[in-house]
Amino acid sequence: MRIDIITIFPEMVEPYTNGSILGRAQKSKKVTIKTHQLRKWTSDKHNTVDDKPFGGGPGMVMKIEPFDKALKSLKLGKKSRVILTSARGKEFTHADAKRLAKYDRLVFLCGRYEGVDERVAEHLADEELSIGPYVLTGGELAAMVMTDAVVRHIPGVLGKSESLEEVHGSFPQYTRPDVYKKWKVPSVLLSGDHKKIEEWRKGK
Ligand code: ADE
Repeated sequence: MRIDIITIFPEMVEPYTNGSILGRAQKSKKVTIKTHQLRKWTSDKHNTVDDKPFGGGPGMVMKIEPFDKALKSLKLGKKSRVILTSARGKEFTHADAKRLAKYDRLVFLCGRYEGVDERVAEHLADEELSIGPYVLTGGELAAMVMTDAVVRHIPGVLGKSESLEEVHGSFPQYTRPDVYKKWKVPSVLLSGDHKKIEEWRKGK
């Protein structure tokens, strides 16, 4: 899989996508994650990516043209999906992470400022996704959250020791010491009785 993240703050995103499990997944060629500076696709002297809203109002709106040019330059094939990050989008879920992991390519368009020209959602993006019912200062964190949740579903990204834990069917975990400041690990987990342990975990 290849993931492209188009943003005016690539330097915010790269340390995350190059670290830990995402970094390891890239080194082992399970995924390639590229960030792109949106300003690359501007042609004016100030590399302007935003403008005043039609109809008036406070704040600035991100222009469609740089996003359009960025997407053209990526030369996307069939099995690709373009996602606009937005507080107005559908809320991203575990099921979306699994679904998006099946594409060959994902592109995240990160919104910023007070909004993005609606024609980006209408004509350039395949879907508009939010990571929750709150407003962030930009879509970069949302793109990182979704990238992380998607990449762990790519076969071979998680090692044997890192379980592909599902939202439901997860259970509390403990490790040594079995007693810490009087706080005890549930005794069933120390019993060695695997059947009982399984039952206890199912009940959690
Ligand atoms: N941009 C601003 N807020 C957002 C959110 N909650 N999810 C995705 N993108 C956003």
